[in-house]
Amino acid sequence: MFVVANLRSYFKFLVVITTIAVVIAAIILNQIPSEYESPKINETPEVPNEIPEVPKKIHIFTDQELAQYNGIHEERIYLSVIGSVFDVTKGKKHYKKGASYHYFAGKDGSRALVTGDFNDESSNKDYILDLNCDDIFNVLHWRRTFREKYEFIGYLSGRYYDENGEETIYMTGLKKVVKQCREEKEEAKKQERTFPPCNISWKEGEGSKVWCSKSSGGIVRNWVGVPRQLYTPGVERPQCVCVRRDNKNSALIKEYEGCPSSSSECIVPDK
Ligand code: HEM
Repeated sequence: MFVVANLRSYFKFLVVITTIAVVIAAIILNQIPSEYESPKINETPEVPNEIPEVPKKIHIFTDQELAQYNGIHEERIYLSVIGSVFDVTKGKKHYKKGASYHYFAGKDGSRALVTGDFNDESSNKDYILDLNCDDIFNVLHWRRTFREKYEFIGYLSGRYYDENGEETIYMTGLKKVVKQCREEKEEAKKQERTFPPCNISWKEGEGSKVWCSKSSGGIVRNWVGVPRQLYTPGVERPQCVCVRRDNKNSALIKEYEGCPSSSSECIVPDK
């Protein structure tokens, strides 16, 4: 009797424990994020709206091949910027024979994108490494514009890419120059924040009045500063910049002759 009663309470105990376990499991399973749930019957599996585009094969052009696509020999018009070839047929009003920018059709005329020399048919018409930083940025900007507006269809084998579409040493050189240009620009910006340009006005017979304000040079700040001459290596003339009064003297910064060193304005007579 005693054994039977013990067995009953043992089973009761088991039933209670199992029920608790089932309830806890149900709660945990409910909290699992939906992406882990197996698909429900009768639910259509999700199909992406757009069928992914099959990547088109990139073509490597030779100069002669690209020259065919100048809107005269072939109807399609291609052009190259820093060795990247674009199909500009949809912009043929600019590039067809007789149009303003026909020069660029069927060739890499990267240099003329900033020089505007549309008669340059020399072998250097795609040469841009000797240009200044702003002009190089400008050509890069053009390449971005073409990439956004037109279809990129390949590379031009020659100065920037080889016959396998790999970057050439020249391209590596260009990338180095671009990096240096970016660093210089960043440095110039930093310098401008440290030494904002002065306000300048000129009067015949008197010379230039240079003065500092909390927004001179377009740099808004909480200090005014005093005008000083900043000598930058490689730049012919000193620039007028505003320097904090407590600025430690730098070899590149000189006071204006005849100006009180603590004055926020100064008259610089004409030489
Ligand atoms: C270095 C000088 C210049 C270069 C290299 C140049 C280059 C170009 C190029 C390549 C295009 C066609 C862009 C495309 O495919 O959508 C274009 C368009 C145009 N350019 Fe120039 N351009 C120069 C100077 C000028 C000047 C000085 C003017 C005006 C006085 C001008 C006015 C225009 C106009 C109105 C368009 C057409 C815009 C459109 O219809 O979408 N460009 N330029």
